[in-house]
Amino acid sequence: MSSALRSAKPLRVGTARRYLMCPPRYFTVSYTINPWMDPSEPVDTARAVAQWTALAGTYRALGHTVEVIDPEPGLPDMVFAANAATMIDGVVLGARFRNVERAAEAAHYRRWFVAHGAPDMVMSSAVNEGAGDLIWTGRLLLAGTGFRTEPAAHSEAQELLEVPVISLRLVDPYYYHLDTCLLVLDDSPCAPLIAYYPAAFSPGSRRVLARLFPNAVIAGPADAACLGLNGVSDGRSVVLPSEAVDLGRALAVRGFEPVFVNVSELRRAGGGPKCCTLELRA
Ligand code: ARG
Repeated sequence: MSSALRSAKPLRVGTARRYLMCPPRYFTVSYTINPWMDPSEPVDTARAVAQWTALAGTYRALGHTVEVIDPEPGLPDMVFAANAATMIDGVVLGARFRNVERAAEAAHYRRWFVAHGAPDMVMSSAVNEGAGDLIWTGRLLLAGTGFRTEPAAHSEAQELLEVPVISLRLVDPYYYHLDTCLLVLDDSPCAPLIAYYPAAFSPGSRRVLARLFPNAVIAGPADAACLGLNGVSDGRSVVLPSEAVDLGRALAVRGFEPVFVNVSELRRAGGGPKCCTLELRA
């Protein structure tokens, strides 16, 4: 083989996705349920709406479908649609939020799913913050615990969704949901690939990740600190917060195309692109 062929980047092929999103019309930071949230800092709701609109436009420009659920006044975190449910192969497991401030979101999202083809949707009986903590790799469901989702929800997810679940323990309160420190880049069942920030995990969980994903992209503290791992990949294009430049470079080396978006206002609540995006897998 010629050296040019040997060093060729893998050819990445993206697939069209369907996402559910909720515009941040009532977005603010009025309570603290993670260390990013400081209610004494002013929030610019119009700027959050503009950033969210640009994010939705980015997905559409990449060829994806964006479904939109109406936000509810008094539920400022409803913009973080990832937490509402987990959907794999058309089966939907609904959320049960840890904090009373977000509890009512579950019923609003449930209504949306029931009206949009998932009348049999099951609601979790344990605390379960949806795809924020339950991340599908195409082969395994990686399941975070430690801050929000309870281990009991992991086994419930395995029973209902009929996929193997790997429990992972989160240890840093800044990375309170699994999708703040782990990103699935390629969800093809034959060759799943992830990026993650090891320091956010317990020593045992770190070793499990190293064993399962020896080729993973390892993110550093600067990428983690801008919530850079809160990205959304279609297998080729990876939508990332604009500050995640090192991660973007590492992904480009692996043949992915980083697509940067500004989510500075949404980050005040501890969220990024992935938090705003719930993948609907029919
Ligand atoms: N303020 C929200 C919370 O603490 C942010 C949720 C971010 N969502 C996510 N999927 N990480 O619940």
